Amino acid sequence: MFIKITLPLIVTVRTFPSFVHHLKTLLSSSLQVQKYLECFHLPLEKLQEISARLKKDFNRGLGKHTHHRAAVKMLPTFVTATPDGTEKGDFLALDLGGTNFRVLHIRVNEDEQRVMKSQNCAIPQEMMVGTGEQLFDHIAACLGEFVNSQDLKGQTLPLGFTFSFPCEQKEIDKSILIRWTKGFNCSGVEGEDVVKLLKEAIHRRGDYDIGSVAMVNDTVGTMMSCGYKDQSCEIGMIIGTGTNACYMEELKNVKRVEGMEVKEGENRRMCINTEWGGFGDDGALKDILTEYDEEVDRTSINPGIHTFEKMISGMYLGEIVRLVLVKLTQEKLLFNGETSKALLTPGTFETRFISEIEKEDKGVENTKKILADLGLTSNAVDLHIVRLICDTISSRSARLCAAALATIVNRIRVNRKLDHLKTTVGVDGAVYRKHPNFSEELQDMVRRLAPQCDINFIVSEDGSGKGAAMVTAVAQNVCILVYLLHTNVLTPTLPHSFSTFPPQTAQ
Ligand code: GLC
Repeated sequence: MFIKITLPLIVTVRTFPSFVHHLKTLLSSSLQVQKYLECFHLPLEKLQEISARLKKDFNRGLGKHTHHRAAVKMLPTFVTATPDGTEKGDFLALDLGGTNFRVLHIRVNEDEQRVMKSQNCAIPQEMMVGTGEQLFDHIAACLGEFVNSQDLKGQTLPLGFTFSFPCEQKEIDKSILIRWTKGFNCSGVEGEDVVKLLKEAIHRRGDYDIGSVAMVNDTVGTMMSCGYKDQSCEIGMIIGTGTNACYMEELKNVKRVEGMEVKEGENRRMCINTEWGGFGDDGALKDILTEYDEEVDRTSINPGIHTFEKMISGMYLGEIVRLVLVKLTQEKLLFNGETSKALLTPGTFETRFISEIEKEDKGVENTKKILADLGLTSNAVDLHIVRLICDTISSRSARLCAAALATIVNRIRVNRKLDHLKTTVGVDGAVYRKHPNFSEELQDMVRRLAPQCDINFIVSEDGSGKGAAMVTAVAQNVCILVYLLHTNVLTPTLPHSFSTFPPQTAQ
C-alpha cells in the first residue's frame, strides 16, 4: 500500500530540526497505522479470486433451480432492446432510490433526451421507515403538484418509474419488491407490486391520471440513457448511496425465465439487474470482511443483507471511516488519544467528507475544518493519517467495484466467444462522480482484471430519470410494433430483440 507523504517542500535551515522530528513522528505513526489498515488491503490476486466467486454467483442467480436461494439475485428486467434512436415523445419520470426523490418531464426526440423540467422532493426520515401507504401517497402528491405546475394535467403521459430496489419484475409494469435496502423499510411493500401501489395512490387522489407505466431499476435507466448516445452501451453501473450493475445477458443463459425459448443460432438478449450488492450475504466474502464492516452491518437496519454494498457505497463508507478513526484514537494513534462526542456518534462522518479530504489541492484545509467541526483537535500528523484512512477505504471500494465489473465484461466476452470485447459502461452515483480519484482507480483496476476487454465509461447525466423515459419509449415502440403485427399491418419481421416483448409468461 502507498504511503503518500505530503509535507512542506520548502525547509529552511531554521526549521530543519523540527522538520526532521516531524518526519520521524510521521513515519513511525504511519507504520503503526498501516498495521491497522492492512485488513482493507486487496491485492490483484485477491480481486481475481473475488471476481471468480462472483462469476459462480452469477450462474447461481440465473439458474432455474438455484436462483431462489442465490445471494446475487440476477433479476430479469424484460428489457430486451436497447434504444435504436427512433424513440420519441413526452414522458413523466419518477426516480426513487437514494436520499432524494425526483419527478421529471422528459422529451425524447431523434437527437436528444431533454429534461424539460424536474423537481426534487425530500423523503423525510420517518417516512423511509413508516407505512407503504404513507410513502406512496407522498410520491403521488409530489407528482400531482408537478403535473399541476407544468400544466400537464390534461395529458395522460406515459410514466417511467425508476425504483432502485431489488424487484422481481413480472412484466414491464408489474414488479414485486423483494426487500428494501439503503435505509428504507416501509411496511406493507415487500412482496407487493410497486406499480400497483403507485397507481392506487394516484387513484386515491383522483385529481390526475397517468398513462402506461414502465418500471426500471436505476442501473437499467442509466444503461438506457447512455445507450441512446452510444449504442454499444450494454452495462449500467451505480456507485452512489447503493451500488449495483445491470448488463445485457444472452437470453439462452437466463434459465430462470420460462416461456422465452431461444432457437439455435439466435442471439437474443435480456438486461439482467444483477443486484450485486447482495454478494456475500451467504458468507462468500467472510475472509475479507473487517471488524469495521461487521459493526456497520450489525448496526444497520438490515443486518446480513447487502454485504458487498456495505463495503462499497456512499451510505456506508463514511461510517467505516468513523469506526476506524475511533479505533485509532482509542489506540492513541490519533488526536492525542482524545475522541469527541461527535466522533463517537454513528453517522456523523459523512461519505462526502472522504472526497473533500482526498482532494489534491484543498485536502489539508478541508480535513482541518471537518475535524474541527467534529470537535477534534488535530496536528499535522493527524491530518496525514486521516487522509491515509480515507484513501484506504475509498480505494478498497473502487477495487471491489472493479472486480465486480470485470466479472461482467469478462462474462460478456466469453458469452459472445470473442477474443477481444469492446464495450461501453454507463455510470452514475455520487461516489463515482464526486470522489477525486475513485473513477481512475476503478478503471485502472478493471483493465488489469479484464485485459481482453476495451471498456469505455460514460457518466450519465440524469441517467436514471431519462433512462426510465427511454425504457417507456422503447417499450412503446415495441408495443406499437407488436400491435401492428397483431393487426397484420406489418409482416412479422421484427428485430429479434423485440419479438417476444412483452413476455407472455414469466416466473
Ligand atoms: C441498492 C438497490 C439496487 C440499486 C442500488 C443503487 O443496491 O438494491 O436496486 O440499483 O442500490 O441505487
